[in-house]
Amino acid sequence: MRAVAIRTDENEPAVIEKPRPDPAEGEALVRTLRVGVDGTDREVIAGGHGGPPEGDDHLVLGHEAVGIVEDTNGTALAEGDVVVPTVRRPPNGTNAYFERGEADMAPEGEYVERGIAGDHGFAAEYFTSPEEFLVPIPEDQADLGFLIEPISITEKAVQHAFAARSAFTWEPESALVLGNGCLGLVTLAMCDHVYGFERTYCLGRRDRPDPTIDLIESLGATYVDSRETPVLAVPSVHEPMDFVYEATGYAPHAFQTIEALAPNGVGALLGVPSSWEFEVDGGALHEEFVLQNKALVGSVNSGVTHFEAASDSLASLPDGFLSDLVTGIYGLDEIEAAFASDDTTIKTALEFST
Ligand code: NAP
Ligand code: BGC
Ligand code: ZN
Repeated sequence: MRAVAIRTDENEPAVIEKPRPDPAEGEALVRTLRVGVDGTDREVIAGGHGGPPEGDDHLVLGHEAVGIVEDTNGTALAEGDVVVPTVRRPPNGTNAYFERGEADMAPEGEYVERGIAGDHGFAAEYFTSPEEFLVPIPEDQADLGFLIEPISITEKAVQHAFAARSAFTWEPESALVLGNGCLGLVTLAMCDHVYGFERTYCLGRRDRPDPTIDLIESLGATYVDSRETPVLAVPSVHEPMDFVYEATGYAPHAFQTIEALAPNGVGALLGVPSSWEFEVDGGALHEEFVLQNKALVGSVNSGVTHFEAASDSLASLPDGFLSDLVTGIYGLDEIEAAFASDDTTIKTALEFST
């Protein structure tokens, strides 16, 4: 079968041949439909994050997949079920995090991530997976099911952020999303259509005309250009925010989030920057944090319950938004275009079969 992989001695992904996998006991065989591409894939390709399984000279890419069960292999799934796989697997057998169904909370060393770190991904014509990591979704989500993994990332982050505000009466109205990449844009749409914020804002650093600014405004949200209105100026230019979702990976935003928040607000940090030293007024931030009852949560990965919620959220997002978000679906003869990144590309996916 064909698979899309990055070899350790190369810096571009390639189509390679691999044997079709045989499902082990407890696993099903899935025929891959589509696999989404995100910033993490580009980081993995550039060698900045993750890597192949120990001893292998390549990593099959892909962690945002949707497929169809081809061989149930004695599992409770049915042939033809449309499924989305979760990303994390236990490195050796199992451990307490996986037994509790909380692999997304496992510390480093207690998990591998398919297509990212230590385990091959789903960008192949077929993949196998233990059934507990395959989340069935409605058939009519087969085309866009590759969006369920990124949406699930937000389901988890928002669950944790809102849990940090659950000890008192919190009635949030305003939300600011930092970042107009795919993660920022789907989160903005969820703030409007799933979480019910009354006023939403999305921060980027692009000139008009730009397709992401068009999408932001089509949702009824306000575009904030960080070159004119940096995060620190948002409360005075617009309003203090009840909720801030950081999806830029720009490290100063983690700290500026504290000042953009309204009293009692919460920020969720999603970006994965590398080491970067800069000055902050730690005392002022500390004081602000305490005297204004603010909270910040970091969040990574997601589990089965978040994938299930993501399937419901996907169903609530407007069709027009989704069709403008997905800027390209590419076959295996066009992988360069699938992994390209420019101002006209928002979200792309590889198509393996229909
Ligand atoms: P992306 O496509 O790279 O999007 C990041 C966006 O932020 C880009 O549109 C970029 O603008 C914008 N941006 C960066 N710095 C900015 C600044 N200083 N001011 C204004 N805008 C700025 O990445 P993504 O796939 O949406 O993911 C967003 C972040 O979340 C990444 O850091 C990714 O690694 C992380 N992530 C985390 C998880 C998790 O589980 N925690 C899951 C998925 C992704 P331009 O395009 O104009 O440069
Ligand atoms: C993936 C997550 C993963 C994270 C860190 C993200 O792009 O969507 O599932 O945990 O990267 O590797
Ligand atoms: Zn991802």
